Amino acid sequence: MANKQDCEALHAIGKKRPLRGLRVVITGGTSGLGLALVRELLDQGAKVAFVARRREGVEQVLREHPEAHGIVGDVSKKEDIYPIAIQALGELDGVDVLVNNASSLGPVPLASLADTECEDFELALATNVVGPFRLTKAVLGSLAASAREGRRPLILNISSDAAINPYPNWGAYGASKAALHHLSRIWDEELATEGIRVISVDPGDMDTALHAIAVPDADPSVLKRPEAAARELVGMITDVASRPGGTSIESMQEVKL
Ligand SMILES: NC(=O)c1ccc[n+]([C@@H]2O[C@H](COP(=O)([O-])OP(=O)(O)OC[C@H]3O[C@@H](n4cnc5c(N)ncnc54)[C@H](OP(=O)(O)O)[C@@H]3O)[C@@H](O)[C@H]2O)c1
Repeated sequence: MANKQDCEALHAIGKKRPLRGLRVVITGGTSGLGLALVRELLDQGAKVAFVARRREGVEQVLREHPEAHGIVGDVSKKEDIYPIAIQALGELDGVDVLVNNASSLGPVPLASLADTECEDFELALATNVVGPFRLTKAVLGSLAASAREGRRPLILNISSDAAINPYPNWGAYGASKAALHHLSRIWDEELATEGIRVISVDPGDMDTALHAIAVPDADPSVLKRPEAAARELVGMITDVASRPGGTSIESMQEVKL
């Protein structure tokens, strides 16, 4: 008769891992939505490389998830982009999905535009728009190769309703997310011929460190759990990757071998 450990092992083997072999790079993978995405994607069998600025955060996630690949880097810094891209592409042997998730609020505490320092505005643009633009360019060749191999590469840019609504005091963040959203739409048009999709998504108001800094008085119990948002986003990734005509994710491993 099988004991509890045997049953758990059998369950793990039998567990459906629909994203097996999918190569995903996530910026901002040590907290909030990014960390939830790392966990959900690993759970579904994807190969994951994640980025964050603070080494201790990266090492903490790696202790919990040694199968992931952690990269210390700052997407707002031009000189960090190629080292991030080279490490991610090397660790994963290419990339199928890039999630530009790392974000800056700009001034903290939030401030009206008149009270926003130019440097804080620049930081929001550097982190939320220019960084994702640079990283996209740095991995574009690999995404195009993924498409040529019959996969369905995707760039997922994490936006916000502040990209659409002119919330007072959210100027630096809102303007940068609006730019990221529109950039995504143009990338999507331009990269369609390469077989690469670019989607910008608002994950909703989540109970995360970023939200706590932005809205310290918010009641966390009314906010979405980042794990719920991660499941929705992974559902989108799965939908795109399984579009008809492409190599199914399940068979990617075989295609690579
Ligand atoms: N939370 C919400 O309610 C909400 C609502 C709408 C949209 N969003 C969007 O959802 C995304 C995730 O937000 P979150 O709330 O999960 O944030 P979070 O909990 O603050 O996590 C941010 C992550 O990004 C990393 N990071 C920050 N700046 C970085 C940089 N320059 N380079 C590399 N990594 C960096 C952080 O680690 P280090 O500090 O170590 O770098 C951390 O891992 C963001 O794009 C945010 O704008 C959030």
